[in-house]
Amino acid sequence: MYLQWLKKYHLLIFDEIDSTNSEAMRLAKSCVEGDFIIWAKTQTHGRGTNGRKWYSGYGNLHLSILLDRNIEISKQPQISFVSGLALYDTVYKIARNTSSQHMIHLKWPNDVMLNCKKLSGILLESCTIGDKKYLIVGIGVNISSSPNNIDQDSTNLLSEVIRTTDDQVLNLLLGYFDKYFKLWQERGFIFLRQQWIKKAYKIHEVVTINNGASRISGIFQDIDVLGNICIKSAGGQIIKMNSGSLNF
Ligand code: BTN
Repeated sequence: MYLQWLKKYHLLIFDEIDSTNSEAMRLAKSCVEGDFIIWAKTQTHGRGTNGRKWYSGYGNLHLSILLDRNIEISKQPQISFVSGLALYDTVYKIARNTSSQHMIHLKWPNDVMLNCKKLSGILLESCTIGDKKYLIVGIGVNISSSPNNIDQDSTNLLSEVIRTTDDQVLNLLLGYFDKYFKLWQERGFIFLRQQWIKKAYKIHEVVTINNGASRISGIFQDIDVLGNICIKSAGGQIIKMNSGSLNF
């Protein structure tokens, strides 16, 4: 087993917790030193993006990576791309050993899609205490169960006949997270962005982005150097958005 990552993090494991991101936030507020992995078998108040609840069934992976690395606030959203690429490679590696062909995509800004259904989500949160900037990367992966969402189809690895365990997913994921984090540091976001775009869901297709305040429809053209989505409207205008949910 590839457990190199264990040397780099303090590891906290919980059978049940409110939310691994909330625990990471409590640790950050107490000004801890070093990077932490907070891993829970289930969460009673798992949180998703835009204030949504995150279904946290036993057997699924719920973890938060607390980074004590003073990452500039403007660059923090880039870590969502680092995490997405790490999740992509993890799922690819596990799915490769199965008899069927699977489609894996990264959906802007921070979902992983398996066979066109949501498999995994990322919730980034940050905390600044004095001159210390912490970043929390919360990751949920549906391994053996998933919610019946009305707004978005979701799936889990078992339903797609991909057999694995939470510890195997965790182990691969943290190895790949390390790899992409280093690439981000050494080669910058421009390089990661190119990798990410190759795996993007619905690129060059018509999409609608809803950010609460507005809804924009058009062709998903690109991701810019800041991680914004670039949409070409029917009138040919390029509209950029830095947050929102992507629909079709
Ligand atoms: C999304 O809405 O897609 C993001 C979901 C993020 C869920 C994970 S599970 C581990 C961590 N703890 C939380 O409360 N949320 C994140």
